[in-house]
Amino acid sequence: MGLRVSVIGMGKLGSCMAAAFARAGAEVFGVDVDPDVIAAVNAGRAPVAEPGLEAAILASAGRLHATTDTPEAVAQTDITFVIVPTPSEPNGAFGLDLVADAFRLVGRGLRARSSYHVVVLTSTVLPGSTRAALVPLLEAESGKRCGRDFGVCYSPAFIALGSVLRDFLNPDVVLLGESDERAGTRLEECYRTTFENEPPYRRMSIENAELTKLALNTFVTMKISFANMIADLCERLPGGDVDVVTGALGFDRRVGPHYLRGGLGYGGPCFPRDNVALAYLARALETSAPVAEATDRFNRALPERTVERLRGLLHPGCVVAVLGLAYKPGTPVVEESPGVDLALAVVAAGARVVAYDPLAGPSARAEFGDRVQVMASLGEALHAADVVLIATPDPAFLRVTDEDLPKDRELVVVDYWRLLAERLAGRPGVRYIAGGRSMDDPLNAARLVRLWAAATGLEPEAVTGVLAV
Ligand SMILES: NC(=O)c1ccc[n+]([C@@H]2O[C@H](COP(=O)([O-])OP(=O)(O)OC[C@H]3O[C@@H](n4cnc5c(N)ncnc54)[C@H](O)[C@@H]3O)[C@@H](O)[C@H]2O)c1
Repeated sequence: MGLRVSVIGMGKLGSCMAAAFARAGAEVFGVDVDPDVIAAVNAGRAPVAEPGLEAAILASAGRLHATTDTPEAVAQTDITFVIVPTPSEPNGAFGLDLVADAFRLVGRGLRARSSYHVVVLTSTVLPGSTRAALVPLLEAESGKRCGRDFGVCYSPAFIALGSVLRDFLNPDVVLLGESDERAGTRLEECYRTTFENEPPYRRMSIENAELTKLALNTFVTMKISFANMIADLCERLPGGDVDVVTGALGFDRRVGPHYLRGGLGYGGPCFPRDNVALAYLARALETSAPVAEATDRFNRALPERTVERLRGLLHPGCVVAVLGLAYKPGTPVVEESPGVDLALAVVAAGARVVAYDPLAGPSARAEFGDRVQVMASLGEALHAADVVLIATPDPAFLRVTDEDLPKDRELVVVDYWRLLAERLAGRPGVRYIAGGRSMDDPLNAARLVRLWAAATGLEPEAVTGVLAV
């Protein structure tokens, strides 16, 4: 008999994994508590919007079955993946209630099995949770022993919304935390028959895998914040340009070019909470994770810092248009979105704000209530605005046309991703300000004069000339 897989939690990640296993030839039982998800999958439709998901479901030729019955799905299969939400708690920990519910039912399914089974947790959890809190649930419900009758693995997926299926099928590295060698080998075989590439498999203890998952996201966000810190400095230096600096930095193999683009900060359902959780873990272990804390603090402060930099542009009665409300281009998700936070910070500073996003309009409307008016088109947002803030590097904004720009007044455009530099810099009727590039403001010039005069011992008048650079 071929591979038989159950997937508990058919959301953004789980449905893509289930479809990937089924398309590769496995018999798959996908479980969810939401009947709409079950109905969609069984009708051959994607339960969430992800490129390639519906095609993968259709290509699985009837091998993907959706159900609400976890014990039955487990009983029918040899390996079970659990990918249900682990919402962040106020203290930063990942809540385990839904995973625990799922594990109890998986344990009930294990009771009915006569042969070896592997349970794989993919949801993000705090290191130690799987072995300390979840394995005992499986043992109690099944009456069986982990390592003898069944095995447990922790194996996260490194995916980005908008490319979940592709990322899952082509990992850079596979993290495989295993309760015992047999469990890890079974999981590795399952992945090998499914993945499109041949990644390195890093097999390790469950706790090391749980920590590596958090460490990876923490490291990547640190890199993003580093680029944003350099962008801030570039804005204050004569001729400063973050792309020039990070572009050169990225050539160094110790640094690498990825996630090193100055912009407006990171957001979304994963990145922000992983730093907070790592810091929480450190405190619980009576130490600290100051790098994760600084990354998080710096990123959360960006909207206020950004508004502080805009003060001179926000005259009474002016209307600010924020373009880009999703946490990144290509998704409707506004969770922890820098664009949404920036819009609300501008409202708090007293300006009227309108906003636009090609995909996230409806979800942003729900977030804003009546504080921000979400416009139906790019043109409408630009027509209403005196100041435009480009909050995401969404290629949709490249479609700005002459008709979109107001004719009766100067439009100030602050572009945090330098997306429209070629289109708008120097254009009549537009004052274009590129985030991460020198802003040559007089207050800052005075600071630089003081700095250089102090360093050289020259009179301030003697050093001002350099500011024309
Ligand atoms: N989406 C990502 O980018 C991503 C990346 C890495 C890790 N993760 C982690 O994976 C987990 C799931 O994330 P997601 O984005 O797929 O979540 P999601 O909210 O899109 O989907 C979760 C699904 O689980 C279902 N569910 C909830 N409780 C259940 C239960 N007891 N039994 C069966 N189904 C249940 C929900 O109805 C929903 O369909 C989280 O821990 C998340 O941190 C997600």
